Amino acid sequence: MNTNDNHIYVIFGASGDLTKRKLVPALYSLFVQNLLPEKFALLGVSRSDFTDTEFRTAMESAIKEFKEIDDTSHVEAFVKKIHYQSIQFNDASTYLPLKQRLEKLRTEEKIGGNTVFYLSTPPSLYGIIPQHLASVGLNLQNDGWKRLIIEKPFGYDLESALKLKDQLLKDWQEDQLFRIDHYLGKETVQNLLVTRFSNGIFEPLWNRNYIDHVEITSAESIGVEKRGGYYETSGALRDMVQNHLLQVAAITAMESPSSLEPIAIRNEILKVFQSLRPIKKEDVKTNAIRGQYLAATVKNEKVPGYRDEEGVNPESVTETYAAIKFYIDNWRWGGVPFYIRTGKRLPTRVTEVVIHFKPTPHFLFSGGPVCSSCNQLVIRIQPDEGVLLKFGMKTPGAGFEVQTVNMDFHYSDLTNQRIPSAYERLIYDSMKGDSTLFARTEEVIEAWKFLSPVIDCWKNDKDVPLFGYPAGTWGPETADDLIEDRDMTWRYPCKNLSDDGIYCEL
Ligand SMILES: NC(=O)c1ccc[n+]([C@@H]2O[C@H](COP(=O)([O-])OP(=O)(O)OC[C@H]3O[C@@H](n4cnc5c(N)ncnc54)[C@H](OP(=O)(O)O)[C@@H]3O)[C@@H](O)[C@H]2O)c1
Repeated sequence: MNTNDNHIYVIFGASGDLTKRKLVPALYSLFVQNLLPEKFALLGVSRSDFTDTEFRTAMESAIKEFKEIDDTSHVEAFVKKIHYQSIQFNDASTYLPLKQRLEKLRTEEKIGGNTVFYLSTPPSLYGIIPQHLASVGLNLQNDGWKRLIIEKPFGYDLESALKLKDQLLKDWQEDQLFRIDHYLGKETVQNLLVTRFSNGIFEPLWNRNYIDHVEITSAESIGVEKRGGYYETSGALRDMVQNHLLQVAAITAMESPSSLEPIAIRNEILKVFQSLRPIKKEDVKTNAIRGQYLAATVKNEKVPGYRDEEGVNPESVTETYAAIKFYIDNWRWGGVPFYIRTGKRLPTRVTEVVIHFKPTPHFLFSGGPVCSSCNQLVIRIQPDEGVLLKFGMKTPGAGFEVQTVNMDFHYSDLTNQRIPSAYERLIYDSMKGDSTLFARTEEVIEAWKFLSPVIDCWKNDKDVPLFGYPAGTWGPETADDLIEDRDMTWRYPCKNLSDDGIYCEL
């Protein structure tokens, strides 16, 4: 059932890849589920010239390509709600015709002034478009709410993020801003909150007394594909760690919120960001490892090294792999190391959080513990979404040999329950004005502050190595030292949640 107000959804960058692959298919899904309001229009905005009909045809093809269609009449009904307006993003004078077009649509479709503006353009336009919208009064809420959704990345470093923040807050209020971090829209990331706070058995152990360390991995098996040009301006740290993975770490580490109100949840997440122990310049070399994939043969196929990819500088020092070790200085986590690693061209595509519990104080049984951290809780974000608990069990037979076994839950076991896409969930929340799953300005700024020493060092200190790693491997061997200094190893996840090991099927 739809519970949101009638409104117009405006997408800037409507001729782009994200609109076609994610945004319009997600809006279509909401339409099919009857989650759009009774009166709704979608206005695509870009520089390209399209008529309404041409743009509708392009979006119809996109929906058919990226969604499973049960009934084509739904597609036909949905695309009738789509319109298009061409503008020059940098030219202030084109915003008045945009405003007039919106007014016309409102009158024709009998929709009030409520409007979402979704910025799906190159990030260099995230400051200027809101400013031009405000110059024609499209930020004002006298005739209905106005919301601004901003795609990642929010800034390129601390300085640019602060500049963007000031630019936006000049004309828009914080509660009008919705910063998309699509990881927060993932069902399995939200389930971290539920696993922790709906079970009496986990939360009492969720602290420095029982947890040895926390490991967060986000691996991709593909390279940069056609996005080499974009990736050159980003790298693994900015692309994955600054936003998605620090957000996942914060949800893993946060205190219980006083309620499910957005402000209560976001306050607790912010406190984690504020408790991150700054990484000293002299510690960057040992606490942050960067790597770049090299050409190799993966599954009998030759794959190019990063520097040979399209759009990449042949002498590029952009990292395609990043691993960091850090601490959260508060009462719950004092002394517990957190490890994050992410990379492209790793053996498999997987994202998961692994809670490694401390061993028992004394090991009673023969043979010694089979691993230094036998009890692990694995929360799998993708693929084979689920939760896995590893624990010791008696090997059947004489004596008291112990072996590690699994207890697991897979989302795929839930029959008839569809997992909505992250964009579907976030777009729906933005329509309802629910900002719980959107990053707040202070969080983003704290994340940049935290990573600034690493970014600066990797940019300016020629002595900090960039390690090569063959495509299809788990990254530079030096990254193992981050975790092995404590007699532990990274978990080597496989495609299936229940399996791990460096030689598993990928
Ligand atoms: N694609 C993804 O999977 C993905 C995932 C996460 C975040 N994002 C973020 O979402 C935003 C949109 O991504 P995208 O992949 O859709 O981008 P895109 O295809 O490169 O660009 C979107 C649209 O912006 C316009 N544009 C491109 N370059 C421009 C320029 N120099 N000046 C003015 N307009 C320009 C183009 O439309 P016209 O030429 O018609 O104006 C283009 O269709 C980006 O900020 C990206 O970082 C994308």
